[in-house]
Amino acid sequence: MHTRDVEGDPMAGISLGCDYNFEQWPPEVWAEDVALMRTAGIDLVAVNIFGWASIEPRPGEYDFSTLDTIIALLHDNGIRINLGTGTSSPPPWLTTRHPEILPVAADGTTRSPGGRQAWCPSSPVFREHALALVEQVARRYGDHPAIALWHVSNELGCHNALCYDEASAEAFRAWLVRRYGSIDALNQAWGTSFWSQRYAGFAEVQPPRLALSLRNPGQLVDFQRFSSDALLEHYRAEAAVLRRHSSAPVTTNFMVTAHIRALDYWSWAPEMDVVANDHYLDHRLGDPDAELSFAADLTRGLAGGRPWMLMEQSTGAVNWQPYNLAKVPGQMLRNSLTHVARGADSVCFFQWRASAQGAEKFHSALVPHAGTDTAGWREVLELSATLDALAEVAGTTVRAEVAVLFSWQSWWATDTEARPSQDVRYLDQVHAAYRAVRRLGVTADVVAPGTDLSRYRLVIVPCLHMVSDEDAAAINTYVADGGHAVVTFYSGIVDLADRVRLGGYPGAFREMLGVVAEEFFPLLPGHQVTLTGGATATLWTEHLRATTAEIVDRYADGPLPGVPAVTRNSHGQGTSWYVATALDDDGLRDLLRAAVRGAGVRATGPESDGSVEVVRRAGGDRSYVFVINHGRQDIEHPVTGRDLVTGEAVPGLLKVGAGAVRVVREESVMTDCTEPRSARVRGGRDGEGQEGMTREAESA
Ligand code: GAL
Repeated sequence: MHTRDVEGDPMAGISLGCDYNFEQWPPEVWAEDVALMRTAGIDLVAVNIFGWASIEPRPGEYDFSTLDTIIALLHDNGIRINLGTGTSSPPPWLTTRHPEILPVAADGTTRSPGGRQAWCPSSPVFREHALALVEQVARRYGDHPAIALWHVSNELGCHNALCYDEASAEAFRAWLVRRYGSIDALNQAWGTSFWSQRYAGFAEVQPPRLALSLRNPGQLVDFQRFSSDALLEHYRAEAAVLRRHSSAPVTTNFMVTAHIRALDYWSWAPEMDVVANDHYLDHRLGDPDAELSFAADLTRGLAGGRPWMLMEQSTGAVNWQPYNLAKVPGQMLRNSLTHVARGADSVCFFQWRASAQGAEKFHSALVPHAGTDTAGWREVLELSATLDALAEVAGTTVRAEVAVLFSWQSWWATDTEARPSQDVRYLDQVHAAYRAVRRLGVTADVVAPGTDLSRYRLVIVPCLHMVSDEDAAAINTYVADGGHAVVTFYSGIVDLADRVRLGGYPGAFREMLGVVAEEFFPLLPGHQVTLTGGATATLWTEHLRATTAEIVDRYADGPLPGVPAVTRNSHGQGTSWYVATALDDDGLRDLLRAAVRGAGVRATGPESDGSVEVVRRAGGDRSYVFVINHGRQDIEHPVTGRDLVTGEAVPGLLKVGAGAVRVVREESVMTDCTEPRSARVRGGRDGEGQEGMTREAESA
């Protein structure tokens, strides 16, 4: 039997955890569950996530007896607790007594209880009841020694982020008063002289409920901002109660994922004591593994580069996609270690035991319906042993020389109504750029626009449609000071008020890129264009002219034959590329390969079709290489050191079997990218020792 050293330093090593919805099981099962958790080396368990109806069965009547028992049981077994405030789903008595807390959709219809998260983020009645519950929970368990972490609500905004009821309307108006100060400023920002929308006072403003025609885009994007802030305010209110009673860290689980975009996590992250994410493979996407890597890198960005928690993932199938695929043998381990490779110091699952009833009865779990004599359970034990072997990796960080800029506000603004093409979707474009970098074997940070970029050799700006003056200036200055950037189409078009930057596209980056476009020429579905260099592209072209840039590639056909499609410009000390179309995957990879080389970026791994990932974590006097082989062929990777799991020496070449992951502590410590890029440029050592070209050779 494997048992993790649960008595040791609780913060040491990589923790393995899960949600435990004990309320779904009779008491006879609890002791067996905890014994099995010990077998599996589970050391962090989330409880009371959906506990409200159990701990407050009737208004103001609290019953903590079962939760007390479970917490004691876990504590006696040395398992730390990630304690939910329990407020994520209101009990039926609350929605019956106060139906006004129910969320209202954009069409004005009320959503019924019967699922989960049936509450309006701006409802003062809900807030009052939720905080009363948190007060009780925090008072009771605030100084309990088993509490390692507080888990506020659950996936805030998963279902209820955009609520259009009267309480939200009132809160939205108050938010607008704070943002704009005067109705004139709001009228200006939303461009309300259009379609006779001018407001005489804030009292006339409504949430952007469904209308007969297209809605005001400034109002739509502000409603997204407001809604993100409203839930953040709820988080803060719960956290404030917890902090009055407890010194344990507080967090909530983010949803950095492909299908949820409700919250601007750049504004949330600084308020978390530890950044935690829930991630589920999305089989609706073309390359789910690349999306997982992207989400992990973005979560690390939210954590400011520091280690973060994977709060939820699944051992196998979920229950909420149209087709819920199981994970093949080894895939759960690979997914888990990809998160660790990219900075996670905890690997937690939803959930401990597969439910026998309820909407999630076909969702996988650590203990499957079939019990423990299963391949799934054996893989859980293998993961546990592996994480034990990786304990010394905890606390180290990932180093990257490339940054990909990511913005929720740009996502909202890009995917709005009334745009040049409904098929230009923000996340698709970000994913395409990220996928290409990953295929090149290059590790990237995913960071907010406005981040200090000086430490990066190359910055990729995919589809940054909405960008503030300051953030655009930061990117332009980065290039002028010697940085390298690749900007892709539909970037720099509007300011934060969704107002077009006049004078030609891509407004904010026109000068830095040395190009100007006078008109967009999106393509119909199924149409593609060919470039003179041989690449194909879909979705988008634009009538582009180079002002100072050199033309790297042109359209050979399509609506704009002979017009530039890819350009490169020398701007100040730096180099900037513009990609004016949606290149196919190989074309984008080839272009980024040239940019990566030109910038002197060092790859961490080999080029592949995306089936091989090599990521390094480093800290102090040690560095670790994770080699993840998603493919069906064995591979070899050059590295010297010691395999952390087997303990074997790796004398220079590491064999990684098909579908396997290996982690090596390197003999000579590698800590890439520790000096700021500007220092390199000033020292005249740009790209030193790299296969990339010098700046002169590059532009020759
Ligand atoms: C998350 C949620 C969990 C569970 C899981 C299923 O959205 O936090 O409670 O529903 O998804 O995949």
